[in-house]
Amino acid sequence: MVPLTTASDSGPSIESARRSLSARLQAAGIEEAGLDARLLVGAALELDLTGLVTQAARRLTAEETARLEAYAQRRIAGEPVARILGTREFWGLPLRLSDATLVPRPDTETVVERALELFRERKIQQPRIADIGTGSGAILLALLHEIPDAFGVGTDLSLTALGTARGNAASLGLGNRSGFVACSYLAALSGPFDLIVSNPPYIPSAEIPKLSIEVREHDPHLALDGGNDGYDAYRALIPQAAERLVPGGALIVEAGQGQARNIETLMAAAALVVDRPPKADLAGIPRAVSARKMPP
Ligand SMILES: C[S@@+](CC[C@H](N)C(=O)[O-])C[C@H]1O[C@@H](n2cnc3c(N)ncnc32)[C@H](O)[C@@H]1O
Repeated sequence: MVPLTTASDSGPSIESARRSLSARLQAAGIEEAGLDARLLVGAALELDLTGLVTQAARRLTAEETARLEAYAQRRIAGEPVARILGTREFWGLPLRLSDATLVPRPDTETVVERALELFRERKIQQPRIADIGTGSGAILLALLHEIPDAFGVGTDLSLTALGTARGNAASLGLGNRSGFVACSYLAALSGPFDLIVSNPPYIPSAEIPKLSIEVREHDPHLALDGGNDGYDAYRALIPQAAERLVPGGALIVEAGQGQARNIETLMAAAALVVDRPPKADLAGIPRAVSARKMPP
């Protein structure tokens, strides 16, 4: 006779595991509880959204239940889903993360959008791109993905981050059009570049302890800390970028909330021309600040 239950089907159903995790996350004050629960159940069971829906009534094995519980406890303790899974999508591209890389944010896609807008206006052949503080490689790899004849270099102070970015480039098939260099901002680059992009650290040091636990305890300090007033990185990298752009080339940087005006002033002081307003993110915050180097 076939047993009605086995050790492998004694857990809750997928649907009930998802619902009860969502309720626990919500009770723990996690904003996107429903989404996080779905992602964690999917990861624990190695199922995509379709699998979760079509197998909703299937029961979890003991091993799956234990794996999901471990994920749940990490999330409730403040670890972001992207860190638990070790991966995050940016510009539709799957990126591996490491302890040394920021979790790429949707806001940063605004920098990619502005860079593509400027690039398409000039119709440059084989553009050379630099991404300063590349982290997981997010911005650079999105641009190389969109511009098939571009070549790009990413810099970072963190060797671990550079290793992660290099791995992402290889797994996206972009390894032969990218290079990764350890240096402070653009110090080791001679250029010239058609586009320079950067999402540098821009949080004022004293603000870091006030950030959410997901950010202050799980994003690397080096990726966040913009010095006393938050502008250290901009002050260092904008003049370096201005020297290394081709005439007509553009610098695009991500701004923290309320920083866009001061960044434009730093750009103008480096003889760059701010020829359009910053591009706002989905929340309406001016996010991608850009300027051009004019021909002599
Ligand atoms: C806000 S994170 C951005 C990472 C990635 N570009 C993104 O948008 O997801 C800033 C990055 O700058 C790097 N960084 C910090 N100081 C740096 C410096 N002096 N020179 C180069 N990179 C630096 C950090 O390690 C981190 O990877």
